[in-house]
Amino acid sequence: MSQPATIPTVDLDDVRSGDPERMRRGAEALRRGLGEFGLVYVRGHGIDPERLGRLYDAFVEFTDRPLEEKQALSGEDIWFQRGWTPPNTEQAVLAGGQPDFKECYFAAPIEIDPRAKLLFPETCADNRWPRGGDTFREDYLAIGRDVHDVGLALLRAAALALGLEETAFAELSQGAPHVSRLLRYLPLTEEQVGTHILWGEEHTDFNLLTLLPGGRFYDPNGRPCAKPDPDAGLYLRTRATPQEPRGRMVHGTPPPGCLVAQVGQQLEILTGGVYQATPHVIRPPAAADYTRTAFAHFVHVHPERKLLPLDPFVTAESLRAYGPPVLAGTYGLKTLVDIGLAPKSALSKLGYRHYDRLAAARG
Ligand SMILES: [Fe+2]
Repeated sequence: MSQPATIPTVDLDDVRSGDPERMRRGAEALRRGLGEFGLVYVRGHGIDPERLGRLYDAFVEFTDRPLEEKQALSGEDIWFQRGWTPPNTEQAVLAGGQPDFKECYFAAPIEIDPRAKLLFPETCADNRWPRGGDTFREDYLAIGRDVHDVGLALLRAAALALGLEETAFAELSQGAPHVSRLLRYLPLTEEQVGTHILWGEEHTDFNLLTLLPGGRFYDPNGRPCAKPDPDAGLYLRTRATPQEPRGRMVHGTPPPGCLVAQVGQQLEILTGGVYQATPHVIRPPAAADYTRTAFAHFVHVHPERKLLPLDPFVTAESLRAYGPPVLAGTYGLKTLVDIGLAPKSALSKLGYRHYDRLAAARG
């Protein structure tokens, strides 16, 4: 289903070098990767593969624990934004009845603006951790922080590549509830192999930039293994062109050791659609009883910042496409309702909530 494509690779050492020629090379890769494919591969990121592997193994051990223990770390009251998310909780907006074939663990590795915690208590909730999980917590937070730093470096370079101030995106994201997510895709049964079941239905991410440092497969005996099927994994849809109005499905196959960075909806809005949020889908292997872990880090815009095209991208068309403006935090609230993590009643927070005072005064 995919056609060969050359997704650009950005060398972080280039974008961090300060050397004009190397910076130009990095900017060009970002412009093409984020503009045409909605993602880039990133090398030179410095994420420790051993630590990441240890985190995956610890997460597999956690997912094998009794349901009650996992449920105790699951928070419907905080819209599943921290701790464990059971399978079949989240739904892609255009899921078409697909079951949700993963369980997840959310944690925020970066300190959140205390004011945002008051205004958006669910998306800014405190982290929660499993018992005896000191190494799990330390590795989780360390990987999250390192991956976040990669995200900030890319956002600075992406801003320069668009002719903006270097800090245009990074500054908007300061103090936001950036969140990391560990995922474990569930094993397929023999009967499910070769059916329409997907590990992740096609969707776009609602944040600014998503970073994926690479996952790990586990064989039916629970041992880490190589990818059991070359066609399994991440596919993305390139943006529409007159020749390909529906875009094109491309298999994301990063060079060894590279991380994937992809465009989220907030970056699309801020750039007035110059970059577009990347539709992506996760295909399972055509083999029963294999699972896969992955780590995703989501860089967000601060919840009190306005989501609307930045000045250089304001046109009548972009304002029509991305208006009316909303705050990033309220945008997130609405999205979490759309994907089934927050209850519909959460939307009542967006209006005046104190009519009962008048009702009481009137008797
Ligand atoms: Fe995603």
